Amino acid sequence: MNVLLIGSGGREHALAWKLAASPLLTKLYAAPGNPGIAREAECVVLDVTDHAAVAAFCKTRSVDLVVVGPEAPLVAGLADNLAAEGIRVFGPGRAAAQLEGSKGFTKDLCARFGIPTAAYGRFNNAPKAKAYLRGVGAPVVVKADGLAAGKGVTIATTRDEAANAIDDCFEGRFGEAGAEVVIEEFLEGEEVSFFCLCDGTTALPFGSAQDHKRVGDGDTGPNTGGMGAYSPAPVMTPDIEERVMREIVEPTLKGMAELGSPFTGVLFAGLMLTADGPKLIEYNVRFGDPECQVLMMRLKDDLLVLMNAAVDSQLAHMSARWRDEAALTVVLAAKGYPGTPAKGGALGGLDEAAGDDVVIFHAGTAGTDDGLVAAGGRVLAVTAIAPTVGEAQRRAYAAVDTIDFPDGFCRRDIGWRAVEREGN
Ligand code: AMP
Ligand code: GLY
Repeated sequence: MNVLLIGSGGREHALAWKLAASPLLTKLYAAPGNPGIAREAECVVLDVTDHAAVAAFCKTRSVDLVVVGPEAPLVAGLADNLAAEGIRVFGPGRAAAQLEGSKGFTKDLCARFGIPTAAYGRFNNAPKAKAYLRGVGAPVVVKADGLAAGKGVTIATTRDEAANAIDDCFEGRFGEAGAEVVIEEFLEGEEVSFFCLCDGTTALPFGSAQDHKRVGDGDTGPNTGGMGAYSPAPVMTPDIEERVMREIVEPTLKGMAELGSPFTGVLFAGLMLTADGPKLIEYNVRFGDPECQVLMMRLKDDLLVLMNAAVDSQLAHMSARWRDEAALTVVLAAKGYPGTPAKGGALGGLDEAAGDDVVIFHAGTAGTDDGLVAAGGRVLAVTAIAPTVGEAQRRAYAAVDTIDFPDGFCRRDIGWRAVEREGN
């Protein structure tokens, strides 16, 4: 099969690495890809916002499957426009991608189909939003409705802070994404990421992970896209997974089908394990980054076979098998991230750092005449697998310490919760 992978981050490098291992694969293209992905795929220049150009590429290169890494092209309807040309796509169409593209849409879906989530209100103007605030306590969570590159969520500890966040949204800080706000009850508990492959009617559990969103050790400082992750998440016991499938994922799939927008692709549920049971914080309609890196390290089965089954409505006949070991990834970021990351920092020692149990995924790198340099906020995802999280952590940091990146930094405590639980 010929496959086109859309995206350029660490998530897409992990997908490329796993797809490249499939005996079904003839040729992998990546648009735009990155220097790490280039080891597995032919990187091509393609304007992904030009859906007709992507379709034309697929036809001339006989692409049998398009795998979309990030959410933006899905929310923009790339999957619909390719499907209209007879091209198979792993990833939801525009209507189903609203599960990530509109927080209000997802909250309304939860309300309609009885899916446990934080209590909420949804507003298109500041006075009404502020009136609702008066009826709820603090802390409270204020969210821009649309895609805001992970910056649209404010956990407000006071009503004043919440009112400011509401003003920010309606004053255009997040552009169109802030045309509506969702105000939510603050949920307490432990967060976990849970993934399912979906074919419109069947959801196949596809692993759990925990990521570390704050930039600093001890979960301090501003939010980022994710500074590291590990899988599996020990809190996701078989009992909790069964409950999440029954109370959250299955009603979502059923609800989406009922609304006429069956969901296909990967459904990423951000969950809070509260004293009242698991509750949905939010959905994403793509793999997490860096959660994908640890999932791909552990997946035993052929990713391409599973993605084909999702596209062809065959997931009811499939299973996914995982290595028993734990995988852990540490993100090396450029100094300044998540603000203004230093660009162009030299990178060295990657080949020495990699090994049988350690894979270095490229997240934001560029090749120059002088060698590999940083070209993004998150630069590398240094990923290890081992019998315990503690040992995976040790291997990942040993590799990190072998890499030469004077302009970079990382958290030194990725996996701390799980390591504490293991007691080593
Ligand atoms: P997001 O930017 O949408 O990924 O959300 C960022 C983070 O905000 C989530 O990962 C949670 O840690 C937190 N969060 C979002 N909604 C809630 C909520 N209702 N209660 C508590 N924390 C929340
Ligand atoms: N690591 C969180 C995300 O990909 O949304």
